[in-house]
Amino acid sequence: MKKDVEVYLKEKRIFSPSKELVENSNVKKWMDKQNIKDYDALLKKSQDIEWFWGEVAKDLISIGDYEKVLDWKLPYAKWFTGAKYNIVQDALDRHKDSDKIAYIFEGEPGEVENTTYKQLYGEVCKLANALKELGVKKGERVGIYLPMIVQLPVAMLACAKIGAIHSVVFSGFSAKAFQDRMIDCEAKVVITCDSFYRNGKTVPLKKQTDEALEKVDCVEKVIVYQRTKEEVSWNKNKDLWWHDFVEKQEMECETEKTDANDTLFFLYTSGTTGKPKGIIHAHAGYALGISLTLKWVFDLKENDVWWCAADIGWITGHSYIVYAPLILGVTSLMYEGAPVCPQPDRWWELIAKHKVSVLYTSPTAIRLFTRYGEEYPQKHDLSSLRLLGSVGEPINPEAWMWYYKYIGNEKCQIMDTWWQTETGSHVIAPLPITDLKPGSATKPLPGFSAAIFNEKGKEVENGGGNLVLLKPWPGMLRGIYKEPERYQKTYWDQFKNVYSAGDIARQDKDGYFWIQGRSDDVLSVAGHRVGNSEIESALVSHPSVAEAAVIGKPHPIKGESITAYVIVKKGIKLNDALKEELRNHVAEEIGKIVKPQEVLFVSDLPKTRSGKIMRRIIKAKALGEEVGDLSTLANPEAVEEIGNAK
Ligand code: WT7
Repeated sequence: MKKDVEVYLKEKRIFSPSKELVENSNVKKWMDKQNIKDYDALLKKSQDIEWFWGEVAKDLISIGDYEKVLDWKLPYAKWFTGAKYNIVQDALDRHKDSDKIAYIFEGEPGEVENTTYKQLYGEVCKLANALKELGVKKGERVGIYLPMIVQLPVAMLACAKIGAIHSVVFSGFSAKAFQDRMIDCEAKVVITCDSFYRNGKTVPLKKQTDEALEKVDCVEKVIVYQRTKEEVSWNKNKDLWWHDFVEKQEMECETEKTDANDTLFFLYTSGTTGKPKGIIHAHAGYALGISLTLKWVFDLKENDVWWCAADIGWITGHSYIVYAPLILGVTSLMYEGAPVCPQPDRWWELIAKHKVSVLYTSPTAIRLFTRYGEEYPQKHDLSSLRLLGSVGEPINPEAWMWYYKYIGNEKCQIMDTWWQTETGSHVIAPLPITDLKPGSATKPLPGFSAAIFNEKGKEVENGGGNLVLLKPWPGMLRGIYKEPERYQKTYWDQFKNVYSAGDIARQDKDGYFWIQGRSDDVLSVAGHRVGNSEIESALVSHPSVAEAAVIGKPHPIKGESITAYVIVKKGIKLNDALKEELRNHVAEEIGKIVKPQEVLFVSDLPKTRSGKIMRRIIKAKALGEEVGDLSTLANPEAVEEIGNAK
């Protein structure tokens, strides 16, 4: 039996929302309508999940008649059984006559193009008709390999409109990764583009598509959007230009009457271990989960300009760039390029120029900006911002403070949202009425219920352990494509009747959750199990440090000894005195027991393309073991540096 996880780091700062934010918030309005007096009462009342989700659905989705809100047969949930529902009804069809801007698009070279809801509707219908002409039927799969251009949401919505299942592959993935996913989902048609702009260069997507599909028999046709007009090779029997084949189609297309529980899409998880999992999401529950959370957590209103700065190739983009903002009818900014191109202030320039009011990004991006320094945001007028968000990894309290101070100008609450590809929507996250503690995603949202279980499966109330979700939720995954046993084993076998998230976390005396990392990355030092995130946050709290990753190396006495890889801020001198200072700093912040044995300086850390630090690979490299497949890494060259770090 494994020991339980211990807890060290204690954060005491609290940031309460302003009265104005609370009073005007969407969630507060709903509470008033329901006569719910405060946050605690809301959380309590919403534990009647069938009542809660049925009630909020009325304002958010056009679900119509259904038999049951929830039909739960462990481990499979169905939501709004018996109803006909297609997410496109709410994301697109109901806005078809609106001249409001759906997307403000800015390309990396700097051109700006607005797409209204009405225009979006026309574009989606044309592509939907094109797919129909190619014989794509309800339930069949379409592979999408597109960058951050408006044609990507158009393609997803076109699939959904005709009841086909989309499987988007992140455009930064290699031909091989795209190929594996197309074979697994048995795509009939693929939608891609010639090439796109990234970091001052172009990425040849059509070429990668050709390479990937060379030996893939299931794909009959490839629709190619012209983004850069670079030359591409052409297969007359297979390839179709978007501007020929799609443009000539009708601008009306009936929406397929799918069942509420029909599959909307597959999305392969980036998979830090093993073969990627084709996570299945369905129409109605997902639509409700994402639209409620966006409306309540980020409090979006009629005049907001929303910028979720993720890539649509990840669940964050599927949920919070495509479907939820469209369901709510808001205006989103969409930016094609790299964050520091041509300079480290590109994002801040975009915010000032487009008057972005709510920004949602990741700790990895924030830590990147801290490395360059606050002079970059300080060059721009960021006063349009009223709320900020974070997702993807635990946000280190000092990175949180930097974000709060230099981006939010100490007036924006930071919504740290914990969730997963599998959960579809936010699960643990603050509301505008929640007091914040830097580094904590706060509490489970209304309608969700989470807990910490020790290794024996007993609930831990004030300590560390495995994060589990106790009840089903509407945006939850509906399985892993073609792998029901893996679905059962990965999420439902560790503890009886509850969903295992695979993360370790702790809950404090106020019921706040603190995510400590993935359970695979837990360290074991002198009989104590410690989450990597606590030690890394202690390192990041030192003024010289921008980023850190810790791993355990086998140690004859302690079990494991801690090695820390550290990226310092610009202009900091590297020497042994600083190493010593950092080791002592960790010991002071959280205790001698976790004092790193070694501190090594690096200029980069291996990360997935979604920005997560790959500690498994760092560890393998540090121990001289086989590092395995590096194809999902954004920066494979960083692995070499780990080997040579001093
Ligand atoms: C894993 C899920 C959810 C969209 C992006 C990632 C980590 C995510 C947080 C957060 C601490 C977080 C967890 C989780 N994670 N958000 N706010 N605080 N950790 O989706 O690739 O499926 O990754 O990301 O470890 O399990 P994903």
